[in-house]
Amino acid sequence: MLQKIQELLQTVHAFEAQTKEEVEQFRLTYLSKKGELAQLFEAFKEVPNEQKKEFGKQLNILKQLIQDTLERIQAQFETNESVLQGIDVTLPEKPIMLGSRHPLSIVKNQIIEIFAKIGFIVSEGPEIEDDWHVFTALNFPLEHPARDMQDTFFIEKNPDVLLRTHTSSVQVRVMEHQKPPIRAIFPGRVFRNEAISARAHCIFHQVEGLYIDTNVSFADLKQTLLYFAKEMFGADTQIRLRPSYFPFTEPSAEMDISCSICGGKGCNVCKYSGWVEILGCGMVDPNVLDNCSIDSKIYSGFAFGMGVERIAMLKYQVKDIRLFFENDVRFLRQFEAAL
Ligand code: PHE
Repeated sequence: MLQKIQELLQTVHAFEAQTKEEVEQFRLTYLSKKGELAQLFEAFKEVPNEQKKEFGKQLNILKQLIQDTLERIQAQFETNESVLQGIDVTLPEKPIMLGSRHPLSIVKNQIIEIFAKIGFIVSEGPEIEDDWHVFTALNFPLEHPARDMQDTFFIEKNPDVLLRTHTSSVQVRVMEHQKPPIRAIFPGRVFRNEAISARAHCIFHQVEGLYIDTNVSFADLKQTLLYFAKEMFGADTQIRLRPSYFPFTEPSAEMDISCSICGGKGCNVCKYSGWVEILGCGMVDPNVLDNCSIDSKIYSGFAFGMGVERIAMLKYQVKDIRLFFENDVRFLRQFEAAL
């Protein structure tokens, strides 16, 4: 029997498996219930007591060798198998693809930089607001359609909890807590209960601005916005102000820029008019100043507000606003160069 163990030690030691089936065959031959090892342990019972020590030692060496060998050949097939599946662990890693900044972030940061150069700071406020900051303080009459569920998202049927429809609410917060002079812009996400289409979305981004001091005039407003338009769309850009209406400004205007695509000659972006509308603006209504405890007899100011998506669509000639929210990397990656 000792000789048999010696033979097996040699065979097992030299064993190499070529296929997975051979590994399984090895396991069956040596370790199954009726396998070589089991047979030897069976025979061991018959060995005379005085020889048991020597036999037992050899038998345990063989058992250990069989187990080690099985582990070795199993491991060998695990790695070989992954190579067969097309994973070659020796290949160098694929480079990690770098992300790119979202076009809306690029444009928003540009707007912030342009206004920072002339002393405007950035202020932010909550997206979930109350009626006072979004409507009442801003001189919205009670029957104004924006107060309707059709236009504004209200929360939990409580008309005093709503998603802000513009970042003018932050203007109110700033005016309530700061003394003039105030020179600030308000970037942020806003929400309107609108049907989603290529031109409109129920979530979009605004940058609004506010300037309050003594003797602020409409000329200051116009000059500031002309500066902005030239910085944003190029030195040749012209502006045009059309009378408009907002409850919180008086007088109010809508500002167009000469079409940055065709240079004013007429194209399908400006609908062949040569002009595109980019923002609303006006002199802050004295009622609003008084609502925010700023004396309208001493101070005056101007305000403006623009949609970041609209500016980005013009700048990059994006035809569908929904693309900004779909997170398709093929779209998003195109703006990397603009970083
Ligand atoms: N709050 C206005 C809007 O959301 C924009 C605006 C801001 C207009 C300031 C005039 C002055 O449409």
